[in-house]
Amino acid sequence: MFVSEALKVNNRNHLEIGGCDCVDLVEQYGTPLYVMDEGLIRKNCRTYKNAMDKYYSGNGLVLFASKAFCTMAMCKIAEQEGLGLDVVSGGELYTALKAGFPMDKVYFHGNNKMIEELELAIDHNIRRIVVDNKEELHHINKIASEKGKIVNISFRIKPGIDAHTHDFVQTGQIDSKFGVALENGEAFDIYETASKLSNVKVVGVHCHIGSQIFDLAPFELAAKVMISFIAEVKEKLGIEIEELNLGGGFGIKYIPEHDPIEYDHYIESVSKVVKGLCEDKRIKLPFIVMEPGRSIVASAGITLYKIGAVKDIKDVRKYVSVDGGMCDNPRYALYQSPYDAVLANRPDAIKSEKVTIAGKCCESGDLLAKDLLMPEIKVGDVLAVLATGAYNYSMSSNYNRIPRPPVVLVKDSKSRVIVKREDFDDIVRNDIIPEDL
Ligand code: LLP
Repeated sequence: MFVSEALKVNNRNHLEIGGCDCVDLVEQYGTPLYVMDEGLIRKNCRTYKNAMDKYYSGNGLVLFASKAFCTMAMCKIAEQEGLGLDVVSGGELYTALKAGFPMDKVYFHGNNKMIEELELAIDHNIRRIVVDNKEELHHINKIASEKGKIVNISFRIKPGIDAHTHDFVQTGQIDSKFGVALENGEAFDIYETASKLSNVKVVGVHCHIGSQIFDLAPFELAAKVMISFIAEVKEKLGIEIEELNLGGGFGIKYIPEHDPIEYDHYIESVSKVVKGLCEDKRIKLPFIVMEPGRSIVASAGITLYKIGAVKDIKDVRKYVSVDGGMCDNPRYALYQSPYDAVLANRPDAIKSEKVTIAGKCCESGDLLAKDLLMPEIKVGDVLAVLATGAYNYSMSSNYNRIPRPPVVLVKDSKSRVIVKREDFDDIVRNDIIPEDL
């Protein structure tokens, strides 16, 4: 009935997640409210981990791409489920550190890592820095030599694959700010340069071909292209690359029309391709790394709002306004990403009319969904926007000085706050009125 298996209708005819009644959650914590189902997050982690064990004899590591939902509690869950972590900033790395996440399972990405961020990563001996460009390579070598260390690195490579997804999240092609390209020789050159540096050890290759992909083929193709590159680097430079990181990007069901592939199939099919090619090319089977973000957390999350206004503009459109919006979920405004929604206080009400869900920000484009088929909505109803567990909290802002909602983690009918609600004092915390003003 719902796009996410985390949800059901309980005997009070309310929406339920993790055994918790959504109307009760709203009473207890207020709105807007992010709710995350711990059971489904853990199940998704295990699906990936078990697939790596089953199809690739465990010779790999699944990382949670923390950008999708970076909180200390989530780092703990990922650790407990045996996953590694992909971080892309000092802030994400610091969150992992504060959560006590094992640094020997952390990979650091990013196209313009700051010196201080690199120092933080090197000081804590993280497992891998995925280098994006030559400047960064030289910075790492310098920092490592000053600290008397050898740093294990891999490089982000653009394999030139069109993964048929939204332009904004397509990163595998040559016209991208991320990484070095294969087709113009940039990628080969950077391996050659690195091979001559004394304080880095080249251990891997990395690519990430896009996001919200519903197809196995681009991943199989990426694996092929990368294995060929590993073979070329071995032949021409004598460097044995031990690790192949194929990134994330596995699609999820936001709306009923979406039909995602079972997550373990990605690992199954990539494993097959890698094994076959390595045999053909007589190279050692690499350690495989995958970096799912969205597919681990998106379906596990919902956002609960109160309806504050209903505006029926005759023959034009019906707007219903919620007490959040692009400040807690900018994804419709940014990418026109579709969402499904239900009324948490009467989830099985018949859908009878099209409504546009608007946020409370001072911005016409502040919508969460356009022309969505919904039951008749009244002021005071509780609206649940579904599958908001990824890139919602992590992309939220204080636009219009709106405090961020809290995040509540639910499991076995229990709810716990994992991120507190911001208040107005949080909003002005860093403001300063200079004395001479
Ligand atoms: N690895 C790398 C190197 C990445 O750049 C990304 C996402 C991932 C893994 C995880 O991809 P996922 O499995 O979550 O699709 N803000 C956008 C998504 C940007 C993704 C950026 N990189 C959104 O809201 O759709």
